[in-house]
Amino acid sequence: MKRSALVTLALMLMFAVSLFAQADKAQYIGSIKCKMCHSSKAKGNVYGIWAESGHAKAFATLATEESKAIARKAGVEGDPQKSQKCLKCHVTAADAPATAKAATFKHDEGIGCEVCHGPGSLYQSMKTMKALTAGTQDAKAVSFIKGDKTKCVKCHNPESPTYKPFKVEEAWKEIAHPAGKS
Ligand code: HEC
Ligand code: HEC
Ligand code: HEC
Ligand code: HEC
Repeated sequence: MKRSALVTLALMLMFAVSLFAQADKAQYIGSIKCKMCHSSKAKGNVYGIWAESGHAKAFATLATEESKAIARKAGVEGDPQKSQKCLKCHVTAADAPATAKAATFKHDEGIGCEVCHGPGSLYQSMKTMKALTAGTQDAKAVSFIKGDKTKCVKCHNPESPTYKPFKVEEAWKEIAHPAGKS
């Protein structure tokens, strides 16, 4: 009797610890999860602007004949949609382990919100989002990034086989998504 109670207690503890361990690590949840709060007109139609941008098509692009030709030239064998050499700049979280991706995350979304704003599982709640905006929540603790234009060149650089000279302020105008008044 006593022993089985101890075993039960130990198992419960292990379960609790594993839950906490998971809660610690932010997961990618997918841009679709940002949609419900970031698509109204009053709030700037942020999701809609992104969905129309080249970033949302970045994975689909890799399926074109042009892409296959570019891949062959770059020495990539096989399907560009399966090659890490192309995916690393054409999808969200290309090099993150499977454990860092929630069930809702789909890599066919291309370059999603979380590339620039961090994996969303810990900051996606209304309470946390509002606290972040108000400046009362530490961004790092929930893996949130406000958006940093100096990071664009992580992908927009000459390592891209189709590299076009990149001027950040001009490029930003094409993908700007001001949130408007709330
Ligand atoms: C439950 C609703 C909700 C969800 C889901 C949500 N947000 Fe937000 N977000 C808000 C609210 C509310 C604000 C505060 C500003 C406003 O009212 O528009 C905000 C603000 C932001 C800001 C600006 C923060 C600042 O400091 O100015 C960014 C960036 C952002 N959200 C990105 C995201 C991303 C990326 C996702 C998906 C991973 C997401 N949000 C999901 C409600 C949400
Ligand atoms: C993780 C990689 C990555 C990051 C970071 C990134 N981009 Fe991109 N961007 C791409 C890819 C890939 C494409 C091409 C998508 C396509 O055409 O399929 C693209 C396309 C674009 C386009 C459209 C250009 C065109 O010719 O279609 C603009 C504008 C742009 N990005 C601006 C930016 C800005 C501004 C930032 C930083 C705030 C940024 N990007 C950060 C990967 C990235
Ligand atoms: C270092 C990051 C990076 C890598 C690696 C990369 N791309 Fe891209 N790709 C980009 C960016 C950024 C753009 C959009 C702007 C540009 O072409 O400079 C883009 C655009 C494209 C386009 C659209 C071109 C156009 O003119 O609109 C195709 C097609 C493409 N990439 C194919 C590939 C293939 C195939 C691979 C793998 C062999 C690959 N890319 C690897 C960053 C990258
Ligand atoms: C290529 C990078 C990139 C992508 C993709 C991206 N953002 Fe942003 N976002 C930024 C940057 C950079 C800023 C900060 C702009 C500034 O400093 O003016 C920003 C700002 C914001 C803001 C605050 C706007 C304001 O007026 O204060 C919100 C809200 C937001 N992003 C939500 C999203 C959501 C939701 C998605 C996906 C649907 C998304 N972003 C996709 C780079 C990106």
